[in-house]
Formats: sequence, structure tokens, C-alpha cells
Amino acid sequence: EPINISDFEILAKEKLDKKAFDYYSSGADEEITLKENCNAFKRIFLKYRVLVDVSKRDLSTEILGHKISMPVIIAPTAFQKMANADGEVATAKAAGKAGNIMILSTLSNTSVEEVVKATSGPVWFQLYVFRDREITKELIKKAEAAGVKAIVLTVDAPLLGQRERDKRNKFNLPQGLEITNLSFVSKSNLIVKNDSGLAGYVTENLDPSLSWKDIDWLRSVTTLPIILKGIACKEDALLAVEYDIEGIVVSNHGGRQLDT
Ligand code: LAC
Repeated sequence: EPINISDFEILAKEKLDKKAFDYYSSGADEEITLKENCNAFKRIFLKYRVLVDVSKRDLSTEILGHKISMPVIIAPTAFQKMANADGEVATAKAAGKAGNIMILSTLSNTSVEEVVKATSGPVWFQLYVFRDREITKELIKKAEAAGVKAIVLTVDAPLLGQRERDKRNKFNLPQGLEITNLSFVSKSNLIVKNDSGLAGYVTENLDPSLSWKDIDWLRSVTTLPIILKGIACKEDALLAVEYDIEGIVVSNHGGRQLDT
């Protein structure tokens, strides 16, 4: 019986296809940042006080108007059906049960409509901007119509980080799985290459010219709150304030984009 996150990781390694496990667990290049992310958490020690009445405990807080059970929410991760047949629906149900928010990836194996229906809690939609802005707009409209409560724009992935394990494995989506949110265009499957299929897909379809000027465009096509995911320095956080962004996610994409 797994009792902590590391136990789940060991079990996952045993059970999952190597390509899937490597995709989920790898970082960019030498994975120095990936390891350092974990070490950074290990260096945080909390000061605590004693002889305080803790018979009633409450971790709940509020974020963008949503009351949530604890100050931890579910970050977007792609392709969850590689791990479980229910994929993103299972995660969404768990998020709802825990009184919390799920952020759904653009690159999910389940449609945003199905995910919103599966949970009693709020869903936020992580957005990748396609070179083809009509596709991007349609994707946003789909997410809005499904009932998502915020757009989480990833800002640190103009190209995909070089994941050496994915390259070695020639990573691609297993037969039968697709990028379901994009099934309205013929771009819903990873292009098979002699490399990582995802890296090829990102290069071919996502817009590497994305910049601050596009925030105005995004505002013009949605009334939902916009959160920028992947802010990594003070200068960019301040710019986000200037652009009236509702929230930022301070993140280096799990060390999956730029190493060191
Ligand atoms: C990744 C992208 C898809 O990190 O967010 O694999």
C-alpha cells in the first residue's frame, strides 16, 4: 500500500509503459533543474510555535473567488490516459471530492466538456497558443462554453524543452489516445518523427513568437480571468501586474523546459 508520493512513484515505474513513465517523470537536458526543484523544497524549514490549541484545523483558503480546501491545487499535466483509463476524469473527480481546483491541460486525452462534467469543483483551462489563432480562439470558446473559470496561459514553452528520455524513446501517444480538445482540427495527433513526437508537435503547431503584445489579443477573445503560468523572475511578475493579469504561477515547468 502506497503511503506517500515516493511510494506512488515506485509503483508507477513498475506498472507504466516505459515511454509513459519517462515522459511524466523527465526534465530537460541533464535534469539539473528537475532535481534542484526537489532539493529546493527540502531546504525549506518552517518555524512553528507550540502550546497552541490545534484541536480544530482548517487549511481552507480562497483563490480568485473560489473557496478551496487547502492552498494547493492541481497543476495541468498532459496525457493522463497514459496512466489510467479514466485519465483526466479520474483526476477531476478527485479534485472535486477534495474541494479543490483542477487545471486541465490543452494537451489532455479527455475533452474539457467531459472534465467539467466530472467534477463538482472549478476547472481552469491551461492554454497553449497555436500558430493558427483561429484554432486558439475556437479552443478558448470550447473551454468557456464547457464552463471553465479561468485561462492559465503557459508562457514558458515557445518550444518544448529537450527531453532526452523522450528522444531516446521516440515518445508518441499510444494508439487510440489523442489530444481530444483539438479533435475539431486535423492536428489532434502527434506527428510521428524520429524524435519526440511531442517536441515535433509543439514546434509545428505552437506559436514561438508569443509575446506580451498577445496578452491584449487574449483579453479581446475572453472575459475569463487570465493567469500566466511559468513566471520565473521579478521583472516578469511586475510586467504581469502592468498587464492587469489576475494571477501568476511561479514555475519552471517542473524543470521540463530550460535546464539550469
Ligand atoms: C510538458 C508540456 C506538454 O511539460 O507541458 O510535457
